[in-house]
Amino acid sequence: MMNKDKNEKGMNRRTFLRSTAAVGASLVFAPKSFGVEGGTEDLNVAVIGGGAEGQVLVDACMKIKGLRFKAVCDIWKDVNLRRVSRRLKAYKHINNSYVDYKELLAAEKDLDAVIVATPDFWHADHTVDSLKAGHHVYCEKEMSNTLEGAKRMVEAAKETKKLLQIGHQRRSNPRYIHSYDKLVKDAKLLGRITTVNGQWNRAAKPDLGWPKNTTIDQATLEKYGFKNMHQFKNWRWYKGLGGGPIVDLGSHQIDIYSWFLGSNPVSVIASGGTDYYEKATHEWYDTVMAIFEYETKAGKVRAAYQTITTNSSQGYYETFMGDEGTLQISEASARGAVYPESPAISEKWDQWVKAGIINEPKKKEEPKEVKVLDVRETLAPPAYEIPVKMEKKYHQPHLENFFDSIRGKAKLNCPAEVGYETAVTVLKVNEAVEAAKRLEFKPEEFKI
Ligand SMILES: NC(=O)c1ccc[n+]([C@@H]2O[C@H](COP(=O)([O-])OP(=O)(O)OC[C@H]3O[C@@H](n4cnc5c(N)ncnc54)[C@H](O)[C@@H]3O)[C@@H](O)[C@H]2O)c1
Repeated sequence: MMNKDKNEKGMNRRTFLRSTAAVGASLVFAPKSFGVEGGTEDLNVAVIGGGAEGQVLVDACMKIKGLRFKAVCDIWKDVNLRRVSRRLKAYKHINNSYVDYKELLAAEKDLDAVIVATPDFWHADHTVDSLKAGHHVYCEKEMSNTLEGAKRMVEAAKETKKLLQIGHQRRSNPRYIHSYDKLVKDAKLLGRITTVNGQWNRAAKPDLGWPKNTTIDQATLEKYGFKNMHQFKNWRWYKGLGGGPIVDLGSHQIDIYSWFLGSNPVSVIASGGTDYYEKATHEWYDTVMAIFEYETKAGKVRAAYQTITTNSSQGYYETFMGDEGTLQISEASARGAVYPESPAISEKWDQWVKAGIINEPKKKEEPKEVKVLDVRETLAPPAYEIPVKMEKKYHQPHLENFFDSIRGKAKLNCPAEVGYETAVTVLKVNEAVEAAKRLEFKPEEFKI
């Protein structure tokens, strides 16, 4: 066996990365995947917001070549700031830590891109200031908790001519791209889409807590817009900070409605309320059911969406229904298939199985002896699964699309203008709940 010290001292970084690749194969953060191989194409990156999602994005970036993380900013100095900074350093991304994003932007002059993963009410300031400092920005959804904020972001991207990608990551998910491009648009497997139905149902759970010895001092909390630690941890539920589950979760899926239908809605009605949790700590609704109307080129589409936070039945998915077939898809990879409306349609789909755009349905075993005729069984249509798998981390393709766009090798899959249209759509659901009546969208509302 070689002497370990001598071995490591004698290695340059590239040799080190190569030699540790095999060892790292079983690690989540394999150094091999770190992408710090040097070269003119490396992009210097900073992340603002190192909470749950910031950490997921940084993890996904570790799988992307050609990135060099230079700085991290988070107001939770003793927990998330330290965690993300250390994690990056462990993988050779020597970075500076900041509590205040303005200090980061003032000090880090050679950045190419900034990733923003702070609570929604901070997105506009963090994004606009980063763009104005000359950096491209990847900003998490929901683009902003206010339309005014979202508008400022689009305008800043236009003005600075910098790229702004909004984090609706399904837009870069190969299963979604295949489903839309091949199944819906090219092969028109669904026929005329008339109805959409989707949901994100989550089980009841207690509010988020924190180890008491990590409490942020009151002055810092207030400086960054939080009344107390409970609000800091549970910001999604508070008016002025987040938008509640319909904005937080619904924005991902309602964004897909508009993408797959090729248009924005013309109206929405919605029912919702804080029915289960304490209103004082859950200002936004824990239960929302909305119905949008779309006027598509093919005709009217009604699209229902619900998010509940007291029962997780059936999880989350989107279902597009047409007169020839149904597509059900979810970011959770277990769901993704098309179902024909009749045996005649099924026969028509043989050509698409041969073309490889859908899988042949699995043959059901014939029961040897039929004791009871189960009507449900005879009615169940065959499931033609989507042959495309998501082999990467969920956010990786969307981040890759962002970095490839900076390098001029791709076009953003969710530019600011598209994120804005989704913001207009989902923010109006909360308004419709409050108004308790049908609200209309004017086409000009979606444009800046
Ligand atoms: N695309 C997705 O699938 C997905 C999933 C989860 C969350 N998100 C989005 O990511 C964002 C963050 O969500 P999260 O779940 O990580 O929340 P979180 O509360 O876990 O993390 C937010 C982090 O931001 C920090 N922070 C707050 N204000 C700050 C400020 N002014 N400057 C610097 N740091 C600040 C906090 O200390 C915390 O570490 C939200 O916009 C959320 O909607 C997206």
